[in-house]
Amino acid sequence: MKALITILAGDGIGPEVMREGVRALKRIARLSGHEFELCDGLIGGAAIDATGEAFPDDTRSLCKKSHAVLLGAVGGPKWSDPNAAVRPEQGLLDLRSALDVYANLRPVATHPALYDASPLKPEKLRDVDILVVRELTGGAYFGEKERTPDSAKDVCSYTRHEIERILRIAGQLAGKRRGKITSVDKANVMETSRLWRNIADELIPAEFPDLELEHMFIDAATMHLLSRPASFDVIVTENMFGDILTDEASMLCGSMGMLPSASLNQDRRGLYEPIHGSAPDIAGKNIANPCGMVLSIALMLRYSLGLEDEAVLLEKTVYAAVEAGHRTADVSLPGVAPISTQVMGDAIIAGLG
Ligand code: IPM
Ligand code: MG
Repeated sequence: MKALITILAGDGIGPEVMREGVRALKRIARLSGHEFELCDGLIGGAAIDATGEAFPDDTRSLCKKSHAVLLGAVGGPKWSDPNAAVRPEQGLLDLRSALDVYANLRPVATHPALYDASPLKPEKLRDVDILVVRELTGGAYFGEKERTPDSAKDVCSYTRHEIERILRIAGQLAGKRRGKITSVDKANVMETSRLWRNIADELIPAEFPDLELEHMFIDAATMHLLSRPASFDVIVTENMFGDILTDEASMLCGSMGMLPSASLNQDRRGLYEPIHGSAPDIAGKNIANPCGMVLSIALMLRYSLGLEDEAVLLEKTVYAAVEAGHRTADVSLPGVAPISTQVMGDAIIAGLG
């Protein structure tokens, strides 16, 4: 197959992890005979420096005509002035909105080789296999915003359409897994959550009668995620709750650096990015973990390009490398010197054959 893929390396550790991801993708292309045309674009702080905008028009048109977009990370102290006219993160939000990638899938599965990197006890980590389905283009992230020196607001609103379409994705995915959906909300306080809960109660039993649906408040969910993580299958939730919950969930897997994400629209075109940020404190040091980026590329192969075999190969290779002891600093083994971003990439590429 042929595919056009936009590469947005972004800021901080973005370019470093992207370099390894692109090497792995090129190796997959060579092994499988697929042709991936890779085009670089600017986003975030790098784009602000070059053009004054966080999501320039050239990047927008490139992304819109691509089969998939790969993103490293955006943001950093250089562009963090709260009074700046334009921020790198806005570029990412504009990109998500331009592609209408409302369904953000964040798989959180533990692997015995990484139990030691997690702060939780190994017995809690056994059989944890969660898929967080985060609504990505609505809620307070995209509502009306206003700030004066003495007050500020971020309006959180959701429409029936937005809630139905994300619940449907969660239902479809849960049907292919263990058949349980936990819908996370704050229905004891928020109107958006009450609407969300009502719609879930209508839609899931009507369209997915074989699924088990449970509701959970976000505060309780943060607790149960630590006390009984293996009891979750699919978690579906709104934008902000999903953002917070997935950072917490990443600690089950040892490090944020391990976690990938896929953001899909109605046509299954997608944006693929690790869930970690730009990590300015370690940027440029060649020590960041590229696994989240490489695993995001595996999700791209699966969801946007339909290349399941290649996706599985890449995932298995990453975990085989980790199991063999190839570890960057964030998941390093006690008494063993951590390896660099690039050496981790080498180990993955060597494993691909
Ligand atoms: C994420 C990030 C982003 C978000 C930031 C960088 C805007 O934290 O992808 O989880 O809040 O969605
Ligand atoms: Mg986040």
